[in-house]
Amino acid sequence: AQVQDLAPEKVTSAKNMAFAFDIDGVLVHGDRLIPEGKKVLEILNGDNELGIKIPHIFLTNGSGKPEQERCAQLSKILGSPVSTKQFIQSHTPMSALAEYYNTVLVVGGEGFRCREIAELYGFKDVVVPNDIVAWDETIAPYRVFGPWERASARPRDFHNTNINAILVFSDSRDYATDYQIIMDLLQSENGRLGTRAKDPVSQRIPIYFSQGDYLCPTEHPFPRMSQGTFRLGLEAMYKAITGAELERTIYGKPERATYTYADEVLSCWMEEIHAEKVLPENVYMVGDNPQSDIIGGNLYGWNTCLVKTGVHTGDENDKENPASEGLFENVLHAVIHAMRKEL
Ligand code: G3P
Ligand code: MG
Repeated sequence: AQVQDLAPEKVTSAKNMAFAFDIDGVLVHGDRLIPEGKKVLEILNGDNELGIKIPHIFLTNGSGKPEQERCAQLSKILGSPVSTKQFIQSHTPMSALAEYYNTVLVVGGEGFRCREIAELYGFKDVVVPNDIVAWDETIAPYRVFGPWERASARPRDFHNTNINAILVFSDSRDYATDYQIIMDLLQSENGRLGTRAKDPVSQRIPIYFSQGDYLCPTEHPFPRMSQGTFRLGLEAMYKAITGAELERTIYGKPERATYTYADEVLSCWMEEIHAEKVLPENVYMVGDNPQSDIIGGNLYGWNTCLVKTGVHTGDENDKENPASEGLFENVLHAVIHAMRKEL
């Protein structure tokens, strides 16, 4: 298929369509390029018969690096500029929580990267599990606490600190320690370690997860457990120990809040590239995961395209959450289909 048969009067239609791309499994596999992803960005950045930019944003459940850094990395892999103004990763919308909570426990990610991200988001007082272990190693009896971790930890007397919320930003690197500390906090009086709440529900601090995917494709032949499975384990142990259900908030695809946020990013991006802050009517979500990208896009009223380059296997559209536009060999086929339909 080609896109060369586009006519100039179709410029208005071109401004009224947009793409929301999933990243892993659509444009890249980790740090490895999916070649059609590079071609697609060239087309959308103006290498098309109209010579016009077709708006597109990136909507990923990925996490663990500051937006600026991840966009620079993606720009390099994809060979096209990826701006932070068109990029949403799982924890990006959580920056809005900074105005509500002073002291937060941020869980997950490599080293202290998620502390750095939370500080960039404007959180004033960011605690990570290692700060707590450095204060009292007996809190995590199975943890081997090395000198490097100790050197970069910020211990304090947590008996005198109220942690106001728990934010799981990325995948836990140490389930045992993170579960233990989260359970201690959830059962404490308003987030003060060393206390036990009289009422486990009214005195419980809130917990947020940046995304809910159970599994994530990696270099390993079978997908690996992700934040969603970490949460399932926590919910089960919380219920078994306290008898209460764990209330929690989840961000990321397919949660509606993330799509609402994406609309805001998209209209700002329209202003950036076309000097008009309007929302294109025909948005196409291109994704590889029916349970996050496709179900979320369908529920939000977007057109959805499922591709074969990621977690979805087989030659048929997903049965439970079919993509409205169908199944495509790769992202280039999906984009050409959408452009032919709209232009
Ligand atoms: O599941 C975590 C993440 O790797 C998924 O990324 O771009 O497919 O939403 P993405
Ligand atoms: Mg994906």
